[in-house]
Amino acid sequence: MSFDVRTVKDLDEFSSAVFAIGQYFGMTPTEERMQRFLDQITAERMHAAWSDSSIVGGAGAFKFDLSVPGGDLPTAGVSVVGVYPTHRRRGVLRSLMRAQLDDAQERGEPLAALWASEETIYGRFGYGPAAFAGEIKLAHEYTSFAQQFEPEGTIRFLGPDEARDALPPVYERVRQLWPGMFSRDDLWWENREIKDPEERREGAGPKRWVAYERDGSIDGYAVYRHKFGFDEGSSTGELRVIEALAATPTAERDLWAYLLAIDWKATVSAFLLPPDHALFFLVATPRRLRYRMGDGLWVRLVDVGAALSGRQYAVDGAVVFDVHDDFCPWNEGRWKLEGGSAARTDEDADIALSAQSLGSAYLGGVSFSSLARAGRADERKDGALMRADALFRWDRHPWCPEIF
Ligand SMILES: CC(C)(COP(=O)(O)OP(=O)(O)OC[C@H]1O[C@@H](n2cnc3c(N)ncnc32)[C@H](O)[C@@H]1OP(=O)(O)O)[C@@H](O)C(=O)NCCC(=O)NCCS
Repeated sequence: MSFDVRTVKDLDEFSSAVFAIGQYFGMTPTEERMQRFLDQITAERMHAAWSDSSIVGGAGAFKFDLSVPGGDLPTAGVSVVGVYPTHRRRGVLRSLMRAQLDDAQERGEPLAALWASEETIYGRFGYGPAAFAGEIKLAHEYTSFAQQFEPEGTIRFLGPDEARDALPPVYERVRQLWPGMFSRDDLWWENREIKDPEERREGAGPKRWVAYERDGSIDGYAVYRHKFGFDEGSSTGELRVIEALAATPTAERDLWAYLLAIDWKATVSAFLLPPDHALFFLVATPRRLRYRMGDGLWVRLVDVGAALSGRQYAVDGAVVFDVHDDFCPWNEGRWKLEGGSAARTDEDADIALSAQSLGSAYLGGVSFSSLARAGRADERKDGALMRADALFRWDRHPWCPEIF
């Protein structure tokens, strides 16, 4: 069967292309919802695959800047990838990925990033798991802190209009600290963070926004919902933390102290927390967090040279990679990283690896040594893995606090 891939031209085509994945979510593609989404992705970033005259697949990309160690790079934020169940396993996804990565390269985006519904889908296209993230479910009885302290700031409720003003600057401050966070424009804030339609609540109440203030500065915020419940006189409720971000360690501690102390709940839940989150050392009984970790953000180096030159490194040093990249052959070959920038070289390789493995290591959350132990990187000179690990590591695990 033959099919063409091109970008959509109007709302109708956009809706059919999004429905390629939307149907698996059980989504009703209302015009209002599709228009809101089209405004964010834009028609020129939504590819559709046609078979005869029908759309049978779609793949979109948000235009993001992604925080990388010590920097920020234009990134294709890959989303809404799907193929109609009538046309699966015939190469539709492959054609969409081809068109999308060619497009990102032409636009000069050094990176593409995504959240994967299954770990088996994107490796073949050069995406590697670059961050890990997990969920917690902490029982009310175990919310005490390991060390006694007096909160140093105050917490204030915000209405949606105040949240729209107060949250973005804090998010931007946090993004400077953490690799792996994407930029949110005004439309994103409005559609994704402030709007709170009933269908997104999953049985819980509306969003509550709180700001954490200290010395006149808003240093953190939390967004959460109450899922109310009582059984035989005791609360079975859940406090669902949607996002709690803090620009300082004090703000992080005080914000979580506030969240964990809220009454009328049996559990506090949160998800997408990085494995080095401060909570593991803040609470007295971290095991009770019942942390369950999985893969978080997946990263693809669309342009190896620009991507390697676009982040900072923990130490001085040099390393030569021999990169294998079937899907984006323009990356294929040896690259020398030295003095913070990368260029093609004829020198012998220190490490040979796939573009996928380099994507995993890129944000500093996955070491070359662990990739090598899994047969995903090959050390060609003694000590090269440790040298590369020292260069790439960062002071924190990459964190993407939202699925896009
Ligand atoms: C996942 C999905 C997009 C794949 O689309 P598709 O058109 O069937 O994929 P293709 O035919 O282009 O497959 C390309 C290759 O990936 C493999 N592949 C595709 N989906 C896979 C999966 N879920 N698990 C393992 N391998 C998969 C194919 O076997 C094929 O391998 P090959 O190159 O060695 O022959 C489609 O099944 C789908 O829409 N699933 C539900 C929605 C979804 O999960 N979307 C992804 C959101 S992140």
